[in-house]
Amino acid sequence: GLPARVRIHEVGPRDGLQNEKATVPTAVKADFVRRLAEAGLTTVEATSFVHPKWVPQLADAEELFPQVAALPVALPVLVPNERGLDRALALGARRVAVFASATESFAKANLNRTVDESLAMFAPVVARAKAAGVHVRGYLSMCFGDPWEGAVPVPRVVRVCRALLDLGCDELSLGDTIGVATPGHVTALLDELTGQGVPVDAVGVHFHDTYGQALANTLAALQRGVTTVDASAGGLGGCPFAKSATGNLATEDLVWMLRGLGVETGVDLDRLVATSVWMAAHLNRPSPSRTVRALSPT
Ligand code: HMG
Ligand code: MG
Repeated sequence: GLPARVRIHEVGPRDGLQNEKATVPTAVKADFVRRLAEAGLTTVEATSFVHPKWVPQLADAEELFPQVAALPVALPVLVPNERGLDRALALGARRVAVFASATESFAKANLNRTVDESLAMFAPVVARAKAAGVHVRGYLSMCFGDPWEGAVPVPRVVRVCRALLDLGCDELSLGDTIGVATPGHVTALLDELTGQGVPVDAVGVHFHDTYGQALANTLAALQRGVTTVDASAGGLGGCPFAKSATGNLATEDLVWMLRGLGVETGVDLDRLVATSVWMAAHLNRPSPSRTVRALSPT
């Protein structure tokens, strides 16, 4: 069976915008977050407290966060290290996310660390966040394939998942960073994780739509009991440190499928489409989401 309700973890303002070439004004980002909240999304990942030289597009995190902090939604932010955590806590963030990699190549490209060095970097971040009563998500990238290393064996993914949970992460997000997963692979990974005692409630999925498999992969995950799904309004996004990473699963495509399946999301699809059309105008190109195109006025 399928879950009655799915929590969408909206990543548009963070994963969606981190890869944009043109600078998006802070006020537009704040409006984007607000419109997403008004469309009924209850979790909107707002920004990243990473090194500003690594991700220039999100270098305005200190200005942005206070502009959205009072919205009545969860506003997780990415923090790679204690410096990032300090910046986030100083602004009152109540949810943070660390981001690990299942592969050495991407750990190096994204964090300038080996996998184990990055876990060591996260240890005090998670411990201090938990001590402050802050919710911690643990992202894991390259759970299915890696642009440098090819297919990623399930046991390697399970090992890093275990390590993130052992550090104290409240939830995981399994990332198909380059969008190469297919439903059978998703099922195999989830079965291995739950078989080793990881509660499915603690597992979210994060698909990219490079090969058009993101919705099929999502459905496979729902059939295994997953109830947290990451998506990006309008299908914005990609990762600047992984070649061949294209857009995230579009939130509109996800909501359309879930609505058809009778799975509750709380999202107002018309308001969400209007938001992505508005954002596309700011970015000067149409949304890649099929649902946005189908539902927007021509
Ligand atoms: P590093 O160069 O090794 O940094 O980068 P360091 O620890 O050696 O520090 C060097 C300098 O940077 C120091 O300054 C630090 O203070 C400063 P100095 O003392 O030399 O003047 N610094 C910072 N400044 C501000 N904020 C900070 C910070 N940290 C250090 N947080 C580092 C290591 C982790 C910082 C860097 O690699 C980094 O920022 N990486 C982030 C990359 C990123 O954001 N990638 C995208 C997100 S992951 C993703 O998209 C995947 C996901 O969507 C899921 C999926 O699809 O798979 C989540
Ligand atoms: Mg991503």
